[in-house]
Amino acid sequence: MAEKIFIGVAWPYANGSLHLGHIAGCYLPADIFARFNRLKGNDVLMVSGSDEHGTPITITADKEKTTPQTIVDRYNTEQTENMRTLGISFDLFTRTTTTNHETVVQEIFLNLYQKDLIKKKSIDALYCPTCARFLPDRYVEGTCPHCKKDGARGDQCDNCGKLLDTFELINVRCKVCGGTPVKQKTEHLFFALSAFEPKLIAWLKDKTYWKANVLKFTNNWLQNGLHDRAITRDISWGIKVPVFGFEHKRIYVWFDAVIGYLSASKEWAKKQKEPTKWKEWWQNPQAKHYYFLAKDNIPFHSIIWPSILMGYDETLNLPYNIPANEYLTLKGEQFSKSRGIGIWVPEILQRFDQDVIRYYLAINMPENKDADWTWNDFVTKNNDELLGTYGNFIHRVITFTSKNFGGIPEASTLSDIDKEALQKIQETHKEVESALNQCSFKKGLRAIMNLAQFGNVYFDHNQPWVLIKTDPQRCKTVLHISLRLIQGLAVTMAPYLPFSSERIWKMLGHTHPIQHWQDALLELHTGTSLETPTPLFKKLELTEIVTTTDPFSKLDLRVAKILEVADHPQADKLYVMQVDLGPLGKRTIVAGMKPHYPKEEITGKSIVMVINLKPAVIRGVESKGMLLAATDVDHVVSLLDPKDCTPGAEVGVDGIAREPAPILEFDAFKLAPMEIDAKGNAVYNGKPLKIKGIIVTSDRAVKEGAKIS
Ligand code: MF3
Ligand code: ZN
Repeated sequence: MAEKIFIGVAWPYANGSLHLGHIAGCYLPADIFARFNRLKGNDVLMVSGSDEHGTPITITADKEKTTPQTIVDRYNTEQTENMRTLGISFDLFTRTTTTNHETVVQEIFLNLYQKDLIKKKSIDALYCPTCARFLPDRYVEGTCPHCKKDGARGDQCDNCGKLLDTFELINVRCKVCGGTPVKQKTEHLFFALSAFEPKLIAWLKDKTYWKANVLKFTNNWLQNGLHDRAITRDISWGIKVPVFGFEHKRIYVWFDAVIGYLSASKEWAKKQKEPTKWKEWWQNPQAKHYYFLAKDNIPFHSIIWPSILMGYDETLNLPYNIPANEYLTLKGEQFSKSRGIGIWVPEILQRFDQDVIRYYLAINMPENKDADWTWNDFVTKNNDELLGTYGNFIHRVITFTSKNFGGIPEASTLSDIDKEALQKIQETHKEVESALNQCSFKKGLRAIMNLAQFGNVYFDHNQPWVLIKTDPQRCKTVLHISLRLIQGLAVTMAPYLPFSSERIWKMLGHTHPIQHWQDALLELHTGTSLETPTPLFKKLELTEIVTTTDPFSKLDLRVAKILEVADHPQADKLYVMQVDLGPLGKRTIVAGMKPHYPKEEITGKSIVMVINLKPAVIRGVESKGMLLAATDVDHVVSLLDPKDCTPGAEVGVDGIAREPAPILEFDAFKLAPMEIDAKGNAVYNGKPLKIKGIIVTSDRAVKEGAKIS
């Protein structure tokens, strides 16, 4: 009987492009699971959308000097398009700024408020008198009480990583105006999470089948005791609080986002013109709810969301499983938009076919521990496994058969090895099914690849290219069995690599798409004509990949502070300067700034420089680095202004991973021309150069188009 499967996938913040960490972390596993269940004939409802409220969005908007609406519109469009291209088969991918979502959230909020599960409480918060507003944690900065580093946020210090209480910060400032905020009482609404503790513990009792990491995070929270949580914020971007006296506050983004799972199900039902159809998943005790997300989201799904559901309506289904993944890393570091580390989906989709990306992410999925993306391994797995083992088997069988017989040849008496092959298809089919039922995605994929490997051995062992001359009857049998193997591969692989599976399926002469999981075991119709095969995958060259990455990524740009300036003993226009690169130490550089900046003006200035160019001896003095300056059509020269950023800080642009070359040739530097735009910002390819989100500008007024070198 068909089961009802609900699949909720974490909602990505609409403040940046998706990166491969997102895909490996939750979208790909969710999609594999959804496709598999649909093939089994189950009724799947898979929803998500972009998470468009809260300070993550307003901070990005502030940085870009634009509105939150502009930001969320841009990234919702891009994310929706990227999901579609990658083949992530959502029944609905919506957003949290719809009126439907707002209505559902406010209804739940009010319901909990009326049941006294949301209560008022007065708390101390930081208020900025200049801006006349309360400051959310991320709008406050100061010196970390632990490591004494300046620039720590109200909730966390990025330097030492410690979680902070806003009031511990030393020398606190308002991030917007720089003013000193004061402690002041403000009222907020708190969700009575503590009231759910016994119910949660009882509910979690039989969840022994959850992944170890999910149980660990969940139990940690429970062991520390559940505390009521503020679910309103003093900001103006978000869903309005439907409670008298709180009109100027907004609902906390996490409270709003998790409710998206329910609101999106309702929106989907409305769009189907069956507005109550969502109940088949939410109010049917037989339905199973799966949530896919990366590990930092676990407690929101295993504790907070279940509590909201329990408090709101006892008849709604709670999560059945939360197969959260660990992180995909790049050279051991977590993907991070703010630090510019990562591989962005819009870019990678322009370079590789979806299934090539899906294969590597699936075989290298961070299921139980972090997994690292390396280009080397990506190329190797593509060439040796996807192309070498899988693609080649399919290609050589179909090419040989179609050339010699044009269609599916008839099998006659089966020998032991033929029977073994048929048996192997059945076993693999079962094995993959059981792995996928348990959300063990890598295990399933490895079983399929073993079958492909078996196929190659079978083909080579039987040597049909010899048989065609010596024993055509036997040759036909071998090819028939080989085609059965291919059919088994195409169907079991369909959840993982849907695009190539459909192509293979068509090559086998099928006219309809793959419809059932059992199709893997179908008998083949002798005589059906085969489509002439085209190669499914292609060989990748590592060097080609490396050179096609953006040349900007090879530059190592840093903030430096000029400590001392002296005239170059051998040249009129040059200064010899001592610069400080913070943790990277001090260096001497030579620069032609003398005609443009008097010593008094340039000393003590912060600049941007390239630190990985080959050291050059300039008129007898070695220069270890090059400062960046812009020159416009009128020959006005300006340094770049990194604002108050600290020496050593990295300079980058959004969407381009920093992969500095150990030594950068000057010619390679010239491949990444930068300039000043109309707003005075330093840009590469139209994208502003940034330091931790702060845009680099020119120090002086120069004309638009001034070249930076
Ligand atoms: N936007 C959050 C993040 O990127 C995830 C929200 S998941 C949901 O970390 F449950 F709230 F939807
Ligand atoms: Zn302020």
